[in-house]
Amino acid sequence: MLKIKNLHAGIEGKDILKGIDLEVNAGEVHAIMGPNGSGKSTLASVIAGKEEFEFSKGEIEFEGEEISELDPEERAHKGVFLSFQYPIEIPGVTVTNFIKTAINETRKAKGLDDMPASEMLKKIKEKADMLEIDRKFLSRSLNQGFSGGEKKRNEIFQLAMMEPKLAILDETDSGLDIDALKVVANGVNKLKSKDNAVIVITHYQRLLDYIIPDYVHVLMGGKIVKSGGKELAHELEERGYDWIKEELV
Ligand SMILES: Nc1ncnc2c1ncn2[C@@H]1O[C@H](COP(=O)(O)OP(=O)(O)OP(=O)(O)O)[C@@H](O)[C@H]1O
Ligand SMILES: [Mg+2]
Repeated sequence: MLKIKNLHAGIEGKDILKGIDLEVNAGEVHAIMGPNGSGKSTLASVIAGKEEFEFSKGEIEFEGEEISELDPEERAHKGVFLSFQYPIEIPGVTVTNFIKTAINETRKAKGLDDMPASEMLKKIKEKADMLEIDRKFLSRSLNQGFSGGEKKRNEIFQLAMMEPKLAILDETDSGLDIDALKVVANGVNKLKSKDNAVIVITHYQRLLDYIIPDYVHVLMGGKIVKSGGKELAHELEERGYDWIKEELV
């Protein structure tokens, strides 16, 4: 599904990603871990196509197509979904209206008409129920005054509604209590299928007790320096990152 080869990218002339190779197949869950500032969020942004980042070299192939020159919207329409480590607030736009617009934009890009209102309502109800989201929550302004857990809930709701092929979840290090972790984990587990894939960026080994990754990658200094199975996350929790640095020299 996603094939990244020798990816180099940066911002404002500063190199951040220095040769990333990563292959993600349908049905897989990949976790990306690594110290602060190692380039995890940058990698997510570059895959999603955020314009402030400069793609300098390499390949990003999604479903057999080179996407590194596409706009973020075009990538989203092809099924790439990126959660935000720092979600934006949009006063006056409700959770429901935001998602309706996002869905219809995607449909438009595929040459489809808007989703009929009744179908949209049904889908919203179904997904909100599945994720145990209160109806009142759906009519609040997007992210305004949302608690950390509510932001997560909203993010997972967007994910459930959009049904992307590839979901990239960039988890904040702070402010996620155990309930919010479970919201993310339950949501992801319910949405997982053989046809989609998930990349979860996290500092929490604990999250990976709930979302069991098939692969764990360690990103350090803009490179994937180690990959393994879920046991690697446990090892990192126990030993930190220094031993990997030592292995590298
Ligand atoms: N908009 C920006 N302007 C300037 N430098 C940036 C910008 N975004 C990221 N960087 C720099 O790129 C490097 C990698 O940042 P990135 O956010 O990708 O790290 P991270 O691995 O996600 O860290 P964390 O675990 O703290 O979330 C850091 O040195 C950071 O300061
Ligand atoms: Mg980050």
